[in-house]
Amino acid sequence: MMEYFAVAGGRPLQGRVTIHGAKNSALPILAATLLADGESVIHNCPALTDCAAALEILTCLGCRVGREGSTVTVDTSCRRGHTIPDELMGRMRASVLFLGALLAREGMAVACWPGGCALGARPIDLHIRAFQALGAQVRSWSGQLYFEGPRLQGREVALPIPSVGATENAMLAACGAQGVTVIRNPAREPEIVDLQGFLRCLGAKVSGAGTEEIVVEGGRRLHPGEYAVMADRIVTATYLCAVAAAGGEGELLGAQGAHVRPVLSALAAAGCEAGECAGGLWVRRTGELRGIGSLTTGPYPAFPTDAQPLLTAVLAGARGKSRITETIFDHRFRYVQGLCAMGGCIQVRGDTAAVTGRPLRGARVEATDLRGGAALTVAALGAQGESAIFGLEHIDRGYEALDRDLTALGGGVFRRREQTCGMPGVGI
Ligand code: UD1
Repeated sequence: MMEYFAVAGGRPLQGRVTIHGAKNSALPILAATLLADGESVIHNCPALTDCAAALEILTCLGCRVGREGSTVTVDTSCRRGHTIPDELMGRMRASVLFLGALLAREGMAVACWPGGCALGARPIDLHIRAFQALGAQVRSWSGQLYFEGPRLQGREVALPIPSVGATENAMLAACGAQGVTVIRNPAREPEIVDLQGFLRCLGAKVSGAGTEEIVVEGGRRLHPGEYAVMADRIVTATYLCAVAAAGGEGELLGAQGAHVRPVLSALAAAGCEAGECAGGLWVRRTGELRGIGSLTTGPYPAFPTDAQPLLTAVLAGARGKSRITETIFDHRFRYVQGLCAMGGCIQVRGDTAAVTGRPLRGARVEATDLRGGAALTVAALGAQGESAIFGLEHIDRGYEALDRDLTALGGGVFRRREQTCGMPGVGI
């Protein structure tokens, strides 16, 4: 029985929501718990299927894990093994983040090739080169990758592009290397700074996260730690875009304005106002939405690729034209098909989507990836009539309960099962 979101569109939002912890911080932080013996406590760890997969990996590695509300405990005292199961590697690409931690701690790691994903090829050559720079040997045999580095040495790791995952893996592995590692051209995303915060709370000497150079003084004995994950900036962007698409106003508690500057600028250009309030951000749509001209995604602090589908969903229903260029992933416009089913006028050529805004109408559509699915839900809130969004397993990877949060913001979003769905009406 397939689940879907039934969305009642075309009515302005009014409400308040708390932004949950960041998936992309929680995943490397959970991997980093392996670096110390004993029980680490992670607060604000979102209850997402991707985090559940990360906890499963830790369990497979012999750790004892527990969750109470948004607090997760990971006791690594009984950890054993160094192999990430194929099934978990296939379920979540970010499983690759456990490789750096395993190399640092066990001197070896084994996993299958992660393969491609809905966003494109997503190779891991930069992760592998970072491990090799620290002295690890890498072999590939029968679909498995074997990493061996019993005596990693701190060295320079120069990244040709600022890959988020490769930066995190280099930081994790460098904690287990003797001497100083300097990571040049690292990703500067806030999640990298959050990982640095957790590593420091384990007693690691790491500095420079958020700048052009990260320095790790490795080889120290680390102890378990207690840490709170930062608020999710892409979830923040989602709710900013939801208010923009549907109109009205909302308060996003826990949201950090500094993490979503380019999203706020784009929404200001489209006709929204936003600002800091006690404990978060407020956002309001002041009138009719308008196109914003050209926008290009890029590594932080440029416009985030993960927010690109969300913004395009807003602009699809605006008056006027916009051109969105995607520079990070090859296949990041698959959700456009869903927007077109809602009456959107969007032409994708190569890495650019040309959007001619027009009023959207509700439709039955399918999410093909996480942020694409959230974007269709955002568009549905701004569309006239009812929509049904299928493919919720993608959305659940990154949102604790998108339906609950959008309802708290005043939207009509309900999780239903296929049998009660009878399009053209979706039974809202
Ligand atoms: C992370 C985020 C993801 C976000 C992305 C970009 C997590 C769990 N996921 O993904 O939500 O969309 O950053 O902000 O944090 N590349 C290579 N070789 C590599 C690694 C990457 O060529 O070894 C390329 C990728 O194909 C892509 C670009 O580098 O074109 C950036 O990818 P990267 O920053 O590594 O993204 P992820 O860490 O996978």
